[in-house]
Amino acid sequence: MFRIVGTLSLIFIFFGTIANAETVMVTGANRGIGLEFARQYADKGWTVIATHRREDIPESLASLKMQYASLIRIETMDVTNHSGIDALAKKLDGIPIDLIVHNAGISGGGSATQQFGRLDYSTFQDVMDVNVAGPLKISEAFLDHVAASDGKVIFTVTSSQGSIGSVNRPGLFYYRASKSAVNMVMRNLAQHPKITGNGILIGLIAPGATDTDFMAEVRGRMPLGDPKERVAGMIAQIESYPRDGSTLSFEWDGEEIPW
Ligand SMILES: NC(=O)c1ccc[n+]([C@@H]2O[C@H](COP(=O)([O-])OP(=O)(O)OC[C@H]3O[C@@H](n4cnc5c(N)ncnc54)[C@H](OP(=O)(O)O)[C@@H]3O)[C@@H](O)[C@H]2O)c1
Repeated sequence: MFRIVGTLSLIFIFFGTIANAETVMVTGANRGIGLEFARQYADKGWTVIATHRREDIPESLASLKMQYASLIRIETMDVTNHSGIDALAKKLDGIPIDLIVHNAGISGGGSATQQFGRLDYSTFQDVMDVNVAGPLKISEAFLDHVAASDGKVIFTVTSSQGSIGSVNRPGLFYYRASKSAVNMVMRNLAQHPKITGNGILIGLIAPGATDTDFMAEVRGRMPLGDPKERVAGMIAQIESYPRDGSTLSFEWDGEEIPW
């Protein structure tokens, strides 16, 4: 008898885990930090909606799907294409999303475009569209998906470069402004009744200098962290993030980033 009950409990736990599996949607999931978020959440048994902006399915996501099969759902989403964002939200209608990770981001280039004296202003708009408007628009479009979930969490990958109080030498005008702006947007959003009323957590998390294509220009000139370690750290911070509405910004290792 004990053996039967034990076996049944094991079956229940097994199916219970699957029934309660969580879903994360990651933007810019085809490479760098986004790809690592997708991999690590799939490894935890989460369903991952891995979004990218390419015409064809990127090789990186195709091979992730080979490895994790039905846990990976690949979808197209350019975070600057608002009608495309709405269309994906509609396509995924009825699917609860426990966690959104607003990861997609661009630096706007370094030496070529963000040098005072020869600033390329067309790039400024591009950086703000991707890094600031994108996360806000996606949060708006997918609010119902998050509200319908158990997790109810929206995180944005920010940067210490957006810390106004820490700036002590000039550079990266657009990128820094965009990360300060997205911090404000998210702290602002966290106070909204549609967020507080639905018990949704809005968080800000930063990877620190990490060895991805993003840092190609400075690779070899400064220490860069391993994306695996940084993403594992960020996931741990997401799990322990304060749910008091403070929307503070933390580094991957838990250090608070001053505004
Ligand atoms: N690496 C660092 O040291 C560092 C430090 C602090 C913060 N961050 C932040 O971490 C996040 C990820 O950076 P990363 O290092 O992984 O950069 P990355 O290797 O350059 O990857 C950026 C990702 O964003 C995607 N993306 C760019 N524009 C997009 C758009 N319009 N729509 C959808 N996806 C778009 C890219 O897609 P494509 O492949 O199609 O271009 C790519 O998947 C960014 O928000 C960045 O600001 C990075």
